[in-house]
Amino acid sequence: MGHFTPLVVFESPEAACRQLAADIASFIRSNDARHRPTVLGLATGNTPLPLYRELIRLHREEGLSFRNVTSFNLDEYVGLERDHPQSYRSFMHRHLFDHIDLPAQNIHLPPGGVLTDQIPARCTAYEASIAQAGGIDLQILGIGRTGHIGFNEPGTHIDSRTQMIELDAVTRQDAAPTFGGIANVPTHAITMGCGTILAARQIALLAWGSNKAAIVRKAIEEPVTDQVSASFLQTHRAATFFLDRAAAAALRE
Ligand code: F6R
Repeated sequence: MGHFTPLVVFESPEAACRQLAADIASFIRSNDARHRPTVLGLATGNTPLPLYRELIRLHREEGLSFRNVTSFNLDEYVGLERDHPQSYRSFMHRHLFDHIDLPAQNIHLPPGGVLTDQIPARCTAYEASIAQAGGIDLQILGIGRTGHIGFNEPGTHIDSRTQMIELDAVTRQDAAPTFGGIANVPTHAITMGCGTILAARQIALLAWGSNKAAIVRKAIEEPVTDQVSASFLQTHRAATFFLDRAAAAALRE
């Protein structure tokens, strides 16, 4: 069994992201003042878009600098070149990296475009680069309708590390619109493991909208199970759920 996972319910995704972005900004600034780097774990998908918009605003209007930040993304599709418009690397450039001063050499995503036989070694190298950066200070997560965090689909072990996985049918269906049809959605991805994510010192899971309500309830209020990777967050000392009202609607308490 896990323990109570803290959650905060907001009026809107924008309100939640204003709060989280302000927390991130003061964390970066206090690290800067002590000449310490900040290591952020980032997610793609629709959920973090309002967060990235707010971080860009803080950079443009309030002088927030990312020059001492290092980032590690959760996952990347296998078989897409780095510059493919649907690659998560391209996504991150479009929605965040191209609009802030995060140094290019500080950006890390799992390698999706390499030959299959090179993937295990590259996954090990990804873990090593996270360790070399000093570990992840704050990991941002969304949640899939399968309960996945990163692309850790049902059945993934709590101790798993960065690896190639096969995407669940539900996950591929959810990605179909952006790929112009399910036939174009990659079958595999490389993802940080559950153990990689749980090693982050702080975790913020974001979820909006009624289609996330049922899985949010399972992750928070049902026992820890490898059938819902997000339930593993119950075992973490500093994981918080940022929800809007619709995503919190199925919670009992
Ligand atoms: C994305 C990721 C996924 C998404 C999840 C929710 O990097 O790791 O776990 O967070 O699939 O996707 P959205 O936000 O599009 O509903």
